[in-house]
Amino acid sequence: MIQPGHFFELHDVRKEYVLRRGLLQRLTRRAPKVAAVDGVSLSIERGTIFGLVGESGCGKSTLAQIMVRLIEPTAGKVLYRGADVARLRGEEERAYRHAVQMVFQDSGSSLNPRKRIRRVLAEALSARGVGGAAARSEIATLMRQVGLDTALLHRFPHELSGGQRQRVGIARALAMKPEVLVADEPVSALDVSLQGQIINLLCDLNRELGLTIVLISHDLAVVARACTQIGVMNAGKIVERGTPQQVLFSPVDPFTRQLLASVPRGLAGRHRRLEPDISPAEKALRSVRQPRLPADEIGRQRSASIA
Ligand SMILES: Nc1ncnc2c1ncn2[C@@H]1O[C@H](COP(=O)(O)OP(=O)(O)OP(=O)(O)O)[C@@H](O)[C@H]1O
Ligand SMILES: [Mg+2]
Repeated sequence: MIQPGHFFELHDVRKEYVLRRGLLQRLTRRAPKVAAVDGVSLSIERGTIFGLVGESGCGKSTLAQIMVRLIEPTAGKVLYRGADVARLRGEEERAYRHAVQMVFQDSGSSLNPRKRIRRVLAEALSARGVGGAAARSEIATLMRQVGLDTALLHRFPHELSGGQRQRVGIARALAMKPEVLVADEPVSALDVSLQGQIINLLCDLNRELGLTIVLISHDLAVVARACTQIGVMNAGKIVERGTPQQVLFSPVDPFTRQLLASVPRGLAGRHRRLEPDISPAEKALRSVRQPRLPADEIGRQRSASIA
């Protein structure tokens, strides 16, 4: 049974992939494994934007796919409103698949090139049993919500810009009336100004629809700008968790410090020394104030909050 209460939780989630065996391994019968996700526990509050950040290959997409049940974890549990999602069946499983939607990094390949945008959205709505005049009106509403002109509905995906395609991907997810949107690198294929627009759109949807968003990025600047909580991932584990202020200004884990240092012009340094030619994203980051608590107290609280 799906219960109200705890919203979206991951308990000690692990995903192992068995790799193809080489000749030697075939002889010794040992199949090499890679733990893409290695014991992740997280609790995401309803109506928040949770940022998941980490370098390439650390397991972000694997975790996203587990959240939306595109793949099953090797061990651990995903709980949604108190229910173990692996045990949901029938109508409850269908409800979960509608409630937790994914926006993919590469909007081009996630949209069928042979379907016009109207059809893409109509098919999503028909999965919810909405058709006819109701679908037409909902399609117009969806296009408005994501800031697209309805004139684009008759176009094919390749006739849209990257930013427009990403908005269609978001509209298609919204067509399912989700409660959670898992956005896997939604802006990494876009240029900086489009990145800002899509992040603003996600923030608007969070505010206006109360949508819970898991925003995945390798770019700490992107997540720090939009999120209420950030989880830093390294080698399949969450190594740091906190508010943007905490993660940016008092990182506990050495990997987070490394991630901060690797951001161009150094996020770690930006809050100390302001320079005149700063981008809007940098301004947003700098508006994040230093926490007042002493550093050791913050470290203690955050170590306790990393499950
Ligand atoms: N189907 C698979 N079979 C074997 N290994 C896999 C598979 N999918 C992912 N991996 C491995 O799991 C690890 C995590 O991959 P994942 O795609 O989750 O990383 P990521 O953090 O999303 O990286 P990126 O930022 O590049 O998208 C990597 O080492 C990857 O090679
Ligand atoms: Mg990925």
